[in-house]
Amino acid sequence: MNKKIIALIVAIVVIAVGCIGFWVISSNNNKTESNNNSNTNTTENGNSNEKQEENTTDNRTTNDKKVAIIYFSATGTTEKVAGYIKDAVGGDLIEIVPLYEYTSEDLNYNNNNSRSTKEQNDSSARPEIKNTINTDNYDVIFLGYPIWWGDAPRIILTFLDSHNLDGKTVIPFCTSGGSGITSSVSYFKSHYKNVNFEDGATLNNGEVSVKNWVNGLNY
Ligand SMILES: Cc1cc2nc3c(=O)[nH]c(=O)nc-3n(C[C@H](O)[C@H](O)[C@H](O)COP(=O)(O)O)c2cc1C
Repeated sequence: MNKKIIALIVAIVVIAVGCIGFWVISSNNNKTESNNNSNTNTTENGNSNEKQEENTTDNRTTNDKKVAIIYFSATGTTEKVAGYIKDAVGGDLIEIVPLYEYTSEDLNYNNNNSRSTKEQNDSSARPEIKNTINTDNYDVIFLGYPIWWGDAPRIILTFLDSHNLDGKTVIPFCTSGGSGITSSVSYFKSHYKNVNFEDGATLNNGEVSVKNWVNGLNY
């Protein structure tokens, strides 16, 4: 074999070894990179789990009780107050939606034959609720409503009759044209004896007074 052929073979072997070496190094780099990526994902997932946990605990107050603000509102006043309470304590805001919405004629308290007047005059009236409300997971329920003829609208009794709130703390609140909450709360206390009703409050004086009231509660 002449020298030129030997030199060519040596050159080919050197180039081949170089290529294999490069391939081995670069494939190792890729593996490291993909490991790094999957580590990053794990960390990100870890964070998202933390976030999920944060969301779950969003419904809890600092003393770890799970809170719902459940309300009925025909013309939006009680709904606004319910929102202030949610802003102050967190928890889930849940509306009691009537199966048949109250029209302004239904709400006409000057008419003895209006729907609201007839319902309030009939102690057995239980207007149907449209939505399903699950109260099982809550320890504390703020229960809001407007005062109708000095009392809670009958749909609040539909709600109380159809949910087992035994052992839970229920904090009533209302809005009104001036009447107080006392009469409705006395009714609740005497008819749903296993529920821990607090005295509640009439909240007609705006956001600041709502927040002051909430901050003064101990539950
Ligand atoms: C049928 C009906 C009866 C009412 N009766 C009373 C009452 O006895 N005393 C009172 O102060 N306000 C009374 N109001 C006024 C409401 O309590 C008040 O406007 C309330 O803030 C409405 O809340 P909402 O917008 O969440 O429905 C009555 C309103 C209606 C529609």
